Amino acid sequence: MSIKVHISNVSKIYKGTTQDVHALNNVNLDIKEKEFVCVIGSSGCGKSTLLNILAGLDTPTSGTIEIDGNPIFGTGSDRGVVFQQYALFPWLTVAKNVAFGLKIQKLPKAVVDEKVDHYLKSVGLLDFKNAFPKELSGGMKQRVAIARAYAVNPRVLLMDEPFGALDAQTRTQLQSELLATWQEEKKTCFFITHDVDEAVFLSQRVVIMSPRPGRIKSIVDIPISYPRTTEVKFTQEFNDIKNEIWKEVYKEYLAEKK
Ligand SMILES: Nc1ncnc2c1ncn2[C@@H]1O[C@H](COP(=O)(O)OP(=O)(O)OP(=O)(O)O)[C@@H](O)[C@H]1O
Ligand SMILES: [Mg+2]
Repeated sequence: MSIKVHISNVSKIYKGTTQDVHALNNVNLDIKEKEFVCVIGSSGCGKSTLLNILAGLDTPTSGTIEIDGNPIFGTGSDRGVVFQQYALFPWLTVAKNVAFGLKIQKLPKAVVDEKVDHYLKSVGLLDFKNAFPKELSGGMKQRVAIARAYAVNPRVLLMDEPFGALDAQTRTQLQSELLATWQEEKKTCFFITHDVDEAVFLSQRVVIMSPRPGRIKSIVDIPISYPRTTEVKFTQEFNDIKNEIWKEVYKEYLAEKK
């Protein structure tokens, strides 16, 4: 499979008033076309910094990022982003939120309407197309955010703890839905989470980062075959992998405490 995202020697130093913060130190990572990669690591290890750089919302101090062999400059519709906090436009209906990026692409209205319906249906919110964000629950808002990100057909989906603010049950549900969508329409996904269970369930590779300076500590392959459903979480294989990653993360925690 070809390389979709090429992250090469990326470092980020934030200049502080008292001291500089090495948010990222020499990060190298290749993400393959249609691959689902999860990133975990303790708070402050540079996960969001890396995602923001990938999204073009921030720039690296040094290093390069290429998508399909082209260096990125700023934000672009080739990357869809979903954040933890529901970044919906409160003054637009659900349908208009999903249509937003499509209108920027200047697609004909009939095509926009068709895509909006298709992606709202895929997240189970077609009946809410005329509702406003304030009328939706947290989980529903994140479903809209995911539909919106998918609708513009980006080359890469970047998600920064998209389910972090949700209760456990809604979270499990949205994980399955996201995976079902991905299994149907594969996209290259870069997904940040604090939740080892979530990372193992969703991804093909889990990237473990560690802080000060923020760097990639190790990468664990998840050999569980797709399609995956929630039942996979009850298998021995799933729990063995989860424990292996937990041990890595726990080692980090002990090292930090020293
Ligand atoms: N705009 C900024 N200016 C200065 N320092 C920053 C800025 N953004 C992030 N940092 C610092 O960079 C480091 C990495 O932050 P980042 O937000 O990437 O961590 P994270 O892994 O996403 O953490 P969390 O899990 O808590 O979201 C932290 O030490 C943080 O204080
Ligand atoms: Mg973060």
